[in-house]
Amino acid sequence: MSDDQINSNYESIKEELNRLIKFNQGWNTRLRRSTMEGAAEVSSFQYLSAELAPNRFMPVVGGWSIQYQVIAAIADYILHDGPESPTIVELGSGISTSWLALALKRHGTGRIISVEHDENYAQQTKQDLLRLGLTDYADVILAPLEARRIERDNFRWYDRAVIEDALGTQKIDILIVDGPPGDSGPRSRFPALPMLANLLNDEALLVLDDADRDEEQKIIRSWNRSWLFDSDDMLISNQRSVGRSHWWTLQGRL
Ligand SMILES: C[S@@+](CC[C@H](N)C(=O)[O-])C[C@H]1O[C@@H](n2cnc3c(N)ncnc32)[C@H](O)[C@@H]1O
Repeated sequence: MSDDQINSNYESIKEELNRLIKFNQGWNTRLRRSTMEGAAEVSSFQYLSAELAPNRFMPVVGGWSIQYQVIAAIADYILHDGPESPTIVELGSGISTSWLALALKRHGTGRIISVEHDENYAQQTKQDLLRLGLTDYADVILAPLEARRIERDNFRWYDRAVIEDALGTQKIDILIVDGPPGDSGPRSRFPALPMLANLLNDEALLVLDDADRDEEQKIIRSWNRSWLFDSDDMLISNQRSVGRSHWWTLQGRL
């Protein structure tokens, strides 16, 4: 074998080794992250079970639902930091609805309006609430998706009139944006703020779930750029990440 061949073999072995080292580092990082996430989920579930003490089997969080750590943080806010009788609007119903209704029951007052576009899932959530004895604290409302044009873009979003009807004269203290699903179009959750901004209480908490996804990152940028700071005159006191969700605490209006 010539010197040139030896050098070239050496270089390709070195390249391959570097590739393997990087691959291994990537997996180590992912493994560490998912171990930490698992630990956070377990401790959040423990907090929820101890603090809310459900006396029936609770539906289990799955890949589509809000993480336990996010539900626990919202429950903690309801129990300790939120308004006396919070009005919650949740876009996209499911497991989170029952846990948050249980948090309101433990708190003693408040109401969650869970907005759902899919009749079967609305029915499923209603049945869970009935079985758990939480219907005094939660309403699931069926709001079909309809075409909306906002800032020159087309969306499919919930029928706003149904949400307004359910709210009556109440304003929203906690808005949880976990729907409509991504397959209803790009930036499917963007309309939440433009559509509901004037129904938010001055010191509302706004939670966007799945904030680690590209589409939700775009929504965060658009909301920060055009909705929270400029058009609607809202002031933000705090912006942070909680698990996979992104939170804003509004501080009133200019
Ligand atoms: C991201 S999920 C919202 C779930 C809910 N906020 C939660 O955390 O449990 C968005 C949509 O998924 C649908 N969905 C609800 N329960 C589901 C389930 N068990 N499996 C799959 N999709 C579900 C509903 O149409 C819901 O509006």
